[in-house]
Amino acid sequence: MPAGRDETTDDPAAGRSSLRPLVPSDATAMARWALDEEFCVAAEWSTELGFDGQLAFHRGIIADPPDGLLRLGLVHDDELVGYVDLHGTEEHSRELGFLIGPGRWGHGLGTAAAGLGIRHGFALGLREIWAEALDANQRSVRILHRVGMVETGRGVEAAYLGEPSFYRRFAIGQSARTAASSTSSPSESRSSPMTNGGSNRMTLL
Ligand SMILES: CC(C)(COP(=O)(O)OP(=O)(O)OC[C@H]1O[C@@H](n2cnc3c(N)ncnc32)[C@H](O)[C@@H]1OP(=O)(O)O)[C@@H](O)C(=O)NCCC(=O)NCCS
Repeated sequence: MPAGRDETTDDPAAGRSSLRPLVPSDATAMARWALDEEFCVAAEWSTELGFDGQLAFHRGIIADPPDGLLRLGLVHDDELVGYVDLHGTEEHSRELGFLIGPGRWGHGLGTAAAGLGIRHGFALGLREIWAEALDANQRSVRILHRVGMVETGRGVEAAYLGEPSFYRRFAIGQSARTAASSTSSPSESRSSPMTNGGSNRMTLL
């Protein structure tokens, strides 16, 4: 396994995917994704920045992430195809976010990203991982169900692709994950630096 790779999945839908720390050159790939206007609208990225603006933005996030953000690259067949966020400053809980670049949707990579992000978070010692998805963003909602998250409530109203919608909140606990793992088959595995939050394991990031 190449140095820096820390999580893999053999989910047949996703092929072989893994998470790794982002490196400065990843900003170029991300800025290229932003050239796809349809992607930007669906991912709620700015369409105003242009390639250079996007490049500078992502370089900045990689070099000096906002407080509480751990962003890891999702690599598939040696290509950066998306990223996973674990965000927050609470000691044992983080919000999961994930994004897949344009031209790659619909092949299981979003599901792989979310599953790997959850596994990574629990390996770091988190006790709970939560996420929010807009009801109108059905891909995201389906992913959160598929990776074993439980719906915990309704969030604020917000528009998605110009359509009125609302956030649905999901969560998964370490204990639920452990229980699920112990009953699964062996083959099933299925933007400021993150603060330490008092846990030494977090410093491994
Ligand atoms: C959400 C996102 C990550 C999905 O990525 P993806 O690689 O297409 O995801 P997958 O291929 O794993 O598919 C996820 C689910 O969406 C379903 N899906 C695919 N196309 C769909 C469509 N047009 N409408 C509804 N669901 C669809 C898939 O069938 C799958 O569900 P299933 O496993 O129950 O069959 C991607 O669209 C994205 O990056 N969006 C912008 C950022 C975002 O919204 N992130 C999530 C917020 S945390």
